[in-house]
Amino acid sequence: MSEIGTTAVIGTGNIGGTLGRAFARAGHAVVFGSRNPAASEAAGDTGAKVATPEEAVAAADTVLLAIPADDVQAFLRTHADALAGKLVLDATNRFPLPVLHSADLVRAMVPTARYARAFNSQAWETFADPRWDGEPGHLFYTVFDAADAPTVEALISAVGLVPAFAGLGRPDLLDAALFLMVPAYETHGRRTGLRLVHD
Ligand SMILES: NC(=O)c1ccc[n+]([C@@H]2O[C@H](COP(=O)([O-])OP(=O)(O)OC[C@H]3O[C@@H](n4cnc5c(N)ncnc54)[C@H](OP(=O)(O)O)[C@@H]3O)[C@@H](O)[C@H]2O)c1
Repeated sequence: MSEIGTTAVIGTGNIGGTLGRAFARAGHAVVFGSRNPAASEAAGDTGAKVATPEEAVAAADTVLLAIPADDVQAFLRTHADALAGKLVLDATNRFPLPVLHSADLVRAMVPTARYARAFNSQAWETFADPRWDGEPGHLFYTVFDAADAPTVEALISAVGLVPAFAGLGRPDLLDAALFLMVPAYETHGRRTGLRLVHD
């Protein structure tokens, strides 16, 4: 049993599929929430489970949102009761509005849920292959409750990246991290990473 409990990965596309398989390969308990679990091949050879979103949320301690941002509100409305008290980890980006995150939406629709944001500022190609010259890149994250930092850090580490704390309650800075990276993606390609160096 993973120390961070079970992670539900909602959405089995580029982001959800890549992250969920990486979490499972690192030894974490993962259940994908898919609209069509019977047809899904998201788990691959990892041993992760694939279930309906309802079943996945019910089983989870942490719920990673990896669906189109336009669908987040409907997801929260449908699963509000089941999400109560859980950690909602938001990887979604709501384009083209200036605010990309769903922190306010989560707070309004599931007031007892805890919110964290990560995996929004770099491309899925980086989550699939997180090293450059043999060294891992960094990934920014934020939590509102410091007690949730170890869970988010464990999931970032599971992907092979190094967690970089952006401060408590700063989903705005996680949006900014993406905006700052976009010109580099356009110049150097989507698998462009970030590395913090220090003594
Ligand atoms: N692509 C990237 O590199 C990247 C990077 C950072 C953040 N993001 C964000 O991550 C989220 C997912 O992006 P993606 O590239 O993984 O998209 P994607 O490949 O299209 O996958 C989205 C998944 O969400 C589920 N889904 C689709 N429509 C849905 C709906 N109407 N309601 C509920 N679930 C639905 C589907 O899984 P099922 O069919 O199994 O339900 C689908 O596979 C987006 O918010 C995006 O902004 C993407």
